[in-house]
Amino acid sequence: MIVLGVESSCDETAAAICSDCKILSTIVSSQIIHSKFGGVVPELASREHELLLNTIVDDAINEAAIQKQDLDAIAVTRGPGLAGTLLAGVCFAKGLAQGLDKPIIGINHLEAHIFANFLADPKLQFPFVCLLVSGGHTQLWLVNGMGNYTLLGTSRDDAAGEAFDKGARILGLGYPGGPEIEKLSENGNPNAVNFPRAFIKDDNLEFSFSGLKTSLLYFMDASKDKDDISHADIAASYQQAIVDVLVHKLLHAVRKANVKTCVIAGGVAANQVLRKAVKKHLSSINILYPDLLLCTDNAAMVAFLGELYLRNGVTSAMDFDIDPNLKLA
Ligand code: KG4
Ligand code: ZN
Repeated sequence: MIVLGVESSCDETAAAICSDCKILSTIVSSQIIHSKFGGVVPELASREHELLLNTIVDDAINEAAIQKQDLDAIAVTRGPGLAGTLLAGVCFAKGLAQGLDKPIIGINHLEAHIFANFLADPKLQFPFVCLLVSGGHTQLWLVNGMGNYTLLGTSRDDAAGEAFDKGARILGLGYPGGPEIEKLSENGNPNAVNFPRAFIKDDNLEFSFSGLKTSLLYFMDASKDKDDISHADIAASYQQAIVDVLVHKLLHAVRKANVKTCVIAGGVAANQVLRKAVKKHLSSINILYPDLLLCTDNAAMVAFLGELYLRNGVTSAMDFDIDPNLKLA
């Protein structure tokens, strides 16, 4: 079966072709227009998607060396995400599906992030715990099977990716903040500043990152006339505080759920310090994360999950709606 995936939930315009659970092509265009604003401007993002979708989809089809008529279905992200950008992708995909007379499948972006791990290892077995860390979500899921998910814990306020993005803005870095902070931290001392690690001693699986961001803001304000600490040290300490909490809660979740495998999904999973820390602290269990390009937003995960649904006989009615607040369970 051959499925086209279309992704436009935020600021990445992406298309990919999946055939028999293998990715034949994956094209991602990250909108750089937002970097000067320090965050995504929804109206600009929607317009960029509208401009780019046609070309990106054509590129994905050409690179896969197939014809549009070869497609068995079109899978498209229907939520969660920004309303306008989701609409751009869904309207485009519906138009294409109708024009080609092919079925359409509305995809949950969070589920697609989790399933990107099956592209990393097709032998991945249920059940497993997933730490889902993106720009909008920080959640721990017990994944029992396809469509069978139990939420173990979530963030009460900001997501981890949001903490990276907001922290980067405070440090005067660009957007997206995660890669910027990671890069600056390479030459920094992660123990230079003792930033707060919310709930780390509590026996729960909740997260909170808004206090950390405020703490960075106060720290920068208090140290603006001093030059005894470098931005690299501050960034590395800030990153370490986020990583420590994520690893600690993941370890706790794995013990509570009593599983032998855990996966990490979402943009923050691209962070090397997080990857190394998880390997170190959860050395006795199987750990999986997608390739770097499959951590951040992409359409390969959408096409792959779409093909799984198609194989199970699941498609969507042509009048399905977007849902910016779509939940996983
Ligand atoms: O999954 P994603 O691409 O989009 C959403 O679904 O939100 O995640 C984007 C988030 C951003 O907050 C970005 O700063 C963060 O992932 N991110 C990273 C890294 N690469 C992307 N955070 C930390 N380290 C990275 N290397
Ligand atoms: Zn995402």
